[in-house]
Amino acid sequence: MKVVASAPGKITLYGEHAVVYGEPALVASIDKRVYVTCIPRSDGRFRISALNLHVPGVIVTYSRDGEIILETDYGRVLSALSYINEGLRITSEYIGERRGADIIVESSMPVGAGLGTSAAVTVATIAAYAKALGYDLKREEIAKLAWETEKKVQGIASPMDTSISTFGGVMYIRYSGSNVHMERVKIGSEIPLVIGYVEREAKTKDLVQRVYSLKQKYPHIVEAIIKTIGSIVEEARKALYEGDLVRAGELMNINHGLLDALGVSTKKLNELVYAARAMGALGSKLSGAGGGGSMIALVLRERVQDVSSAIRILGGKVIDTAIGGKGLVYESVERS
Ligand code: MEV
Repeated sequence: MKVVASAPGKITLYGEHAVVYGEPALVASIDKRVYVTCIPRSDGRFRISALNLHVPGVIVTYSRDGEIILETDYGRVLSALSYINEGLRITSEYIGERRGADIIVESSMPVGAGLGTSAAVTVATIAAYAKALGYDLKREEIAKLAWETEKKVQGIASPMDTSISTFGGVMYIRYSGSNVHMERVKIGSEIPLVIGYVEREAKTKDLVQRVYSLKQKYPHIVEAIIKTIGSIVEEARKALYEGDLVRAGELMNINHGLLDALGVSTKKLNELVYAARAMGALGSKLSGAGGGGSMIALVLRERVQDVSSAIRILGGKVIDTAIGGKGLVYESVERS
């Protein structure tokens, strides 16, 4: 079977990093997606093409003795490929069947922008591969396999990115052990956002590790910060429910300050975050793992132009996207 599956990227409204330690987070899918086509092969080989992950070139990998070998000169893309590689391995193990396949990855969002591309690639790859081999996995199973893949590649990962990419929407999420709790966030008014990004300087894996090391060094201080971020999430959930955007904005500002305290912001991200506020945003923060990547600003319509221009003048890019879109979608399933 030839299967095309797609999965969305995401922004974190509140709670990244603290979510890794069991605190809740508010997260939203965006309407930019990764598309993965899977066509099984009869020769046991894998050929992976990542044509427009915004780095030129085709990446080809071959399976020899059950091992996938990545052949590419592009270090940055290699990191996206390690999610594909691991996702295929974990899925094969789960379904108890391993067949070669042509995998074609296309993205409508920029890679390295901190918008959850790796989770979207992972979810879409697992779904397309399992379906192409004739296995109808439930969404819960796909989300779980994708989370396992992220944990394997990153060392430490919460289920936040993989869950939102699988289910979509605007979600409140927290986990404990292997139990993941997700609820749709009820909102009293739209959440008007401007989303900007700069190139990533560090990988998610290293940033999560940085927070972990800081926590080891200053447990009382860092644990208190993490707990406070959890309280911000609960308060923000109420503010969004009541449609109180002023309060929601202030809470974003506090959340950003604490992420900066955890050492995951950068000078460039801080510039964008503060410029957005100076141009009239109700609040702004980095979004995702940090180290560059994306930032969000809560902005009323009349201020959107000013905030967007400020981000661009400072060297950032603005993404035009809506939040809360669909999760995993099977775009097409054909007999090949
Ligand atoms: C990355 O998008 C979000 C982090 O909280 C890591 C995770 O939840 O696994 C930084």
